[in-house]
Amino acid sequence: MSRTAKGKNREKADLLIINANELVTLTGGADQKPHTGKQMRELGIIRNGALASKDGKIAAVGKTPDVTKAFKAENIINASGKTIVPGFVDAHTHLVFAGSREEEFRMRIEGASYMEILGAGGGILRTVRDTRKASLEKLVDLSLGVLDVMLEHGTTTAEAKSGYGLTTKDELKILAVIKRVNQLHAVDVVPTFMGAHAVPPEFQGNSKGYVNLVAEEMIPKAAEKGLADFCDVFCEKNVFTLEQSRKILATGKSHGLKPKVHADEMSMLGGAELAADVGATSAEHLLFSSQEGVKAMGYKGTVAVLLPAAAFSSMMGRYADARLMIDCNVPVALGTDFNPNCWVQNMQLIIAFACYFMKLTPAEALTAATINAAYAIGRAGEVGSLEVGKRADVAVLDVPNHRFLGYSFGTNLVDKVVKNGRVVVDREKQNEPMLLRETE
Ligand code: NIG
Ligand code: FE
Repeated sequence: MSRTAKGKNREKADLLIINANELVTLTGGADQKPHTGKQMRELGIIRNGALASKDGKIAAVGKTPDVTKAFKAENIINASGKTIVPGFVDAHTHLVFAGSREEEFRMRIEGASYMEILGAGGGILRTVRDTRKASLEKLVDLSLGVLDVMLEHGTTTAEAKSGYGLTTKDELKILAVIKRVNQLHAVDVVPTFMGAHAVPPEFQGNSKGYVNLVAEEMIPKAAEKGLADFCDVFCEKNVFTLEQSRKILATGKSHGLKPKVHADEMSMLGGAELAADVGATSAEHLLFSSQEGVKAMGYKGTVAVLLPAAAFSSMMGRYADARLMIDCNVPVALGTDFNPNCWVQNMQLIIAFACYFMKLTPAEALTAATINAAYAIGRAGEVGSLEVGKRADVAVLDVPNHRFLGYSFGTNLVDKVVKNGRVVVDREKQNEPMLLRETE
């Protein structure tokens, strides 16, 4: 409880959510730092919890009798029997693209690898062809539709990478789409420049030339227009080498873009070490990272953004060693990796995958999907936990406690989503039960 006032002098809030069986604050960890080690299990749970929001921000969090003693509101949600968590933060998406790749899904089932498909001009390069042809308006439309589904599943903040343009014009177009959808949609979208996502056909055999274009033209323009917070690179065998990645990240940094790395996704290249070495905010994927790399990340506080759905969809039967990372004090975060190869918008399913495939507990996975994900994208000052002063971004789940996350999977557990203090999803209203009615 942040404020106290008695009886009639209750302060007016815009919205009260009361009587929650569990209210998960996520304030159990360290001060102003991502949660690591055992802290990832400390959720700061309030039983019979309530939350008041005012002007889009959280005004109070506490036991229901205490919050209702201090605040009144016309708009009250009764969350009796339910669980309140911070809106999910999706730390890694490739939100903006045109087209789809369901044909490659069949090829992967029949044994083709992700890198073989990319090497034959499919994969990312297929999506680049489709995305170059699409107008800004078309891409805005498609991206808004994706964000709608994310929001319905409780995501209130998402990172979005460019990387399906691979020309200066098309990369700037994609970043402009991200800016536009951030203005239009309830979900907050955090922009990452990823011109170094693949070597485009015009530069086949001349990756050096393409790296120069990214460093000398794309990064300065994206930064000058204020279109990106982060700079990412696909550091991978047959894509961008360690040295090329280092150059791109250093250039980004010199233009004020914080480094992120697609690291050790398909092979052990030393991406985790590189991320730690350049002081990256995060390294992502990390399926093949070395122990030394993981330890270096723990030492530097580099956030590991783990993407179990990407590992699942690539069908390699391998997942990042999240337990080693937690033992090494690496802050672990989660993301969907929504992209045409991994078509998933639901962070609840990612939490389930993190539990089943990487042996995170539901508490650890929830920490990874909220406060640690917020740290991974530089938004922990505003979102990721339920505390006074942060944005009132809340998911009300129709389950009695947070341990149902992962345990119950494959259906949407969201009852309501509140974004900046406004109810933006109400499934109680939308989903009248489909009962067979007697006809007269
Ligand atoms: O995070 N690995 C590189 N980028 C994406 C996949 C993009 C695509 O296949 O279109 C990833 O997995
Ligand atoms: Fe990715």
